[in-house]
Amino acid sequence: MKTVLVTGGAGFIGSNFVKYMLDQHKDYKIVNLDLLTYAGNLENLTDIEDNPNYEFVKGDIADRSFINDLFEKYHFDLVVNFAAESHVDRSIENPEIFVQTNVMGTQVLLDAAKNLWQTGKDENGYPTYREGVKYLQVSTDEVYGALGKTGMFTETTPIQPNSPYSSSKAGADLLVRAYGNTFKFPMNITRCSNNYGPYQFPEKLIPLMISNVVELKNLPIYGDGMQIRDWLHVKDHCSGIDTVLHKGRLGEVYNIGGNNEKANIEIVDLIIANVKEKLSKNQYNGIDTDASTISDDLKIHVEDRLGHDRRYAIDNTKITTELGWSPSYTFEQGIVETIDWYLNNQDWLKQVKSGGYQEYYEKMYSKK
Ligand code: NAD
Ligand code: DAU
Repeated sequence: MKTVLVTGGAGFIGSNFVKYMLDQHKDYKIVNLDLLTYAGNLENLTDIEDNPNYEFVKGDIADRSFINDLFEKYHFDLVVNFAAESHVDRSIENPEIFVQTNVMGTQVLLDAAKNLWQTGKDENGYPTYREGVKYLQVSTDEVYGALGKTGMFTETTPIQPNSPYSSSKAGADLLVRAYGNTFKFPMNITRCSNNYGPYQFPEKLIPLMISNVVELKNLPIYGDGMQIRDWLHVKDHCSGIDTVLHKGRLGEVYNIGGNNEKANIEIVDLIIANVKEKLSKNQYNGIDTDASTISDDLKIHVEDRLGHDRRYAIDNTKITTELGWSPSYTFEQGIVETIDWYLNNQDWLKQVKSGGYQEYYEKMYSKK
């Protein structure tokens, strides 16, 4: 039995990944380490919390002595690091926690894994490691910066992050790369495009817009709304990470994306139309919105995000040709299912929007 450490497993992608791994690898033990920040939510995991192959541990990836003890206790074979501060807008308000978690936290994990896995040294003085171990850093296409109208990010595109969030993710990537080079540390880095799907915190575009349409609240579109993101269903991201974890060549970076570029305004229009259609045909528990009152008038253009990246697009040639991965969802299917999930999970949405969410929303959007 392999023991896998998943950090940030109570967040959006991490919780989907924990479930994916328990389903795909019945002989793996999954330890989910999460600090349960505003973005971490154990409600995302209620359906698997009693699985004997699953364990939750609360803690901070940047807490060195706690992490060292954890590695001593569990003797992990694989580490997948999702834990991060993940929202660009928050990084503009408060960059420091992004450096602390995303950069310092990654360094602590790298040291703990290196210490646990090292078996000796080779004839050139490089560390040698236990057979079959690997550290996978979950990164983002945002480390490459922004594209103009044409072109795509490949794994050799220069790192040119533009926001405090993406620069902290790039800092972490460079540390992982350096451990791979200096210590021959067994690692991969994956860089994925924008994810959508169940359990995404409603500070991000898609769940925020769905939630606002249902509440007949304004839909705040930054600037002209013509910024382009390359959307991938979260379950396809999970299968991509699993593929790299098991088949990726050590030391390599793999982009993950599904060739699915959309302008933000297209996404918002689609959400308005689809929520309206669904609410006019079906009853959803906890929703009493009159579908006939949903219209394009909900859209408002607000002040643009500072330093807003115009376009992202992932070239996925390496992972598709070298490792045989491909996405299983079309956007058309995935987005309709996702909207349905949020409409059917109003209790979950209400729970994550209690606590600090209203305050956050006021602070972020009242000045726009
Ligand atoms: P999220 O914000 O939903 O979840 C982050 C999780 O990390 C939360 O559960 C939080 O409690 C936990 N966490 C934060 N600080 C921690 C700390 N110090 N110690 C332990 N746990 C901590 O984020 P997400 O959207 O699921 O993204 C997960 C990862 O994937 C991030 O590394 C992000 O950079 C990367 N990524 C996200 C996307 C996307 O579209 N969401 C795309 C590409 C890559
Ligand atoms: O590309 C991968 C990245 O995608 C991940 O690394 C990040 O963790 C993840 O948050 C996401 O970053 P974005 O900034 O692209 O996602 P967000 O959902 O915040 O915004 C998507 C687009 O929508 C972006 O162009 C900003 C715009 N937007 C967003 C919000 C929240 C709006 O126009 N209005 C909004 O209210």
